[in-house]
Amino acid sequence: ETLEMEVESIMKGEFDHFMQKEIFEQPEAISSTMRGRLVLDVLGAAERVMLGGMSQFAATIRRSRRIILCGCGTSYNSAIAIRQLFEELTELPVTLELASDVLDRRCPFFRDDTCIFISQSGETADTLKALEYAKAKGALCVGIVNTVGSAISRATDCGVHINAGAEIGVASTKAYTCQIVAMVLVALSLSEDSRSKHTRRDDIMQGLLKLPGCVKECLKMDAILLELAQELKEEHSLLIFGRGFNYATALEGALKVKEVALVHSEGILAGEMKHGPLALVDKHMPIIVVCTNDGSYEKQQSVVQQLKARDGRLILIVSDDDTEMEKTAPDAVILRVPKVEDCLQAVVNIVPLQLLSYHLTVLRGHNCDQPRNLAKSVTVE
Ligand code: G6P
Repeated sequence: ETLEMEVESIMKGEFDHFMQKEIFEQPEAISSTMRGRLVLDVLGAAERVMLGGMSQFAATIRRSRRIILCGCGTSYNSAIAIRQLFEELTELPVTLELASDVLDRRCPFFRDDTCIFISQSGETADTLKALEYAKAKGALCVGIVNTVGSAISRATDCGVHINAGAEIGVASTKAYTCQIVAMVLVALSLSEDSRSKHTRRDDIMQGLLKLPGCVKECLKMDAILLELAQELKEEHSLLIFGRGFNYATALEGALKVKEVALVHSEGILAGEMKHGPLALVDKHMPIIVVCTNDGSYEKQQSVVQQLKARDGRLILIVSDDDTEMEKTAPDAVILRVPKVEDCLQAVVNIVPLQLLSYHLTVLRGHNCDQPRNLAKSVTVE
């Protein structure tokens, strides 16, 4: 056992925990996900996307009647993060399925469906079973998997490896951001023939190149998040509001807080605020609102106003150049993140929430790498 502990400490290097190490590895991990796939021109600008493990199937996928994104836990949240871009670039209906629910409902899948299975480990039992189910229905099955040679990566027809490197902490961090990046690449490659989307695709590709640097910038907020965690460490509940491209950020942030810090937390679609969650708001309830600058900005500003009117204790994640939100809620804690292309913003915005949940966990005296009752890969149904 001492040998094991020694190996562990060598693997962790300068970090105290795997979760912390993996959060900080994200700039490099994201670069690895893109390496050799985002092809540059002679001037160093991104020119096109090349996905060797999928190119043969791209035409078939484009002809399919719908795309189904399927996974569990954090991997499912990454599907939520990417849905809107998939809809925009493929112009196909895109539906989301939790793997266990596919099995519970025996939902209708067809030969002309494309099912994309997302998994860090590639061994999650529900996801694997849902994949077998989809295959039996004749759907084309694509894998977005981190672990090479895993059951899911072997059973799919084609796919993309996430290449985030081994993830050891039970709570998924770098696999999440890299899954989103891998799926952005898939959405780009499925839409490469579209003339009308040329400018948008180009903006996304150049945005991808800048992404590792922006994530690195975000990691500099570590001390601020430690301070915030100190302030929040005795709380029993934390709400996180997001919408559009950042609904997933709210869900994934809340999942991190509950799974490692063992604090009740709920990610809420901001558009649903008035249909229940608003009743929970008082001057004690800490509420994080993701309100970076994108197409949902004005709607989020009105959400902030309404939460403020009910005395909510607000923490706002805003774009670095934002000046409006602090006027809307002068006593809110403001967390500034670099602005990137809207569909990539979720990759940046989750970083402060990962850091917050990490510090909350350590301050509350819990084990972030092996949270109680949880396992890294859930290999039973
Ligand atoms: C477990 C892990 C989560 C992970 C989920 C799905 O619950 O604790 O971190 O998101 O399984 O795992 P997968 O390996 O399929 O992505």
